[in-house]
Amino acid sequence: MKLPLYNKVALITGSSRGIGRAIALELARQGADIVIHYLRKRHAANEVVTEIEGLGRRAIAVGANLADSDKVGHLFDVVEETFGRCDIFIGNAATGTPKDALELTNRHWDWTMDVNARSMLHCIQRVIPLMESKGWGRIVTISSPGSTRVLPHYAAIGMSKAVVEALTRYLAVELASEGIIVNAVSPGLVETKAITAFPVDLQATLEFAIERTPAGRLVTPEDIARTVAFLCSDANTMIVGQTITIDGGYQLLA
Ligand SMILES: NC(=O)c1ccc[n+]([C@@H]2O[C@H](COP(=O)([O-])OP(=O)(O)OC[C@H]3O[C@@H](n4cnc5c(N)ncnc54)[C@H](OP(=O)(O)O)[C@@H]3O)[C@@H](O)[C@H]2O)c1
Repeated sequence: MKLPLYNKVALITGSSRGIGRAIALELARQGADIVIHYLRKRHAANEVVTEIEGLGRRAIAVGANLADSDKVGHLFDVVEETFGRCDIFIGNAATGTPKDALELTNRHWDWTMDVNARSMLHCIQRVIPLMESKGWGRIVTISSPGSTRVLPHYAAIGMSKAVVEALTRYLAVELASEGIIVNAVSPGLVETKAITAFPVDLQATLEFAIERTPAGRLVTPEDIARTVAFLCSDANTMIVGQTITIDGGYQLLA
């Protein structure tokens, strides 16, 4: 039986670990060849490449600081030279300083917006010609509930995610007629390294989230990955420009 993403090439930003890694592995299981992208963790990225090769797919790891437009250009040059195509783009990498809005400096603002929001547009502008040449493409951006809700010490990241969701809607409209479908996914709390950066009692936060989640557990990276894979498949033709919340029902009660 032909796998749903057979013969596709997928680039997942920030896929050396966490949610991006799970997405890369799921897209590979569904048949795609994979570009693992990372900032500093080259060893972890190479380990994901090895896992994907073990699934019988091709994979490469490319490092690039997304805040730097030249590095973004180089990332896509390598993808083009290696695979000659890129059918699926997952904008997953994110960063940010855990601060309240009144504490933010220009440096905090620029770094967070450049990596999380501006680079998303640069990457997508670069990947679109590759998708247009095939008349098929799938783009999923990864947002967060902080785009619309106020979360502790999350001001800069939350604002950057609001930009990501708005960008997703604009691009979805511009690209739908080209056979390129753009959506966003917004995960609830997922236990990854990212959440250890916040100055909160992590154990209490995790316990509170589990207790308040109707589904009775935290969201896992694999939960996110399966939804992303569905949005990237031909099974999805008419979900366009949406932000899909994956939180086990948490926000329904909050
Ligand atoms: N975890 C959650 O609870 C949660 C909830 C809602 C939304 N999200 C969103 O889900 C996505 C993944 O989160 P995660 O928890 O898996 O994050 P994570 O474990 O912190 O991983 C972040 C990834 O982004 C890469 N990265 C960071 N800064 C970069 C930069 N300047 N240039 C290039 N790559 C960079 C990292 O590369 P290195 O490994 O090389 O450092 C890593 O691969 C993010 O968009 C996040 O906002 C997460």
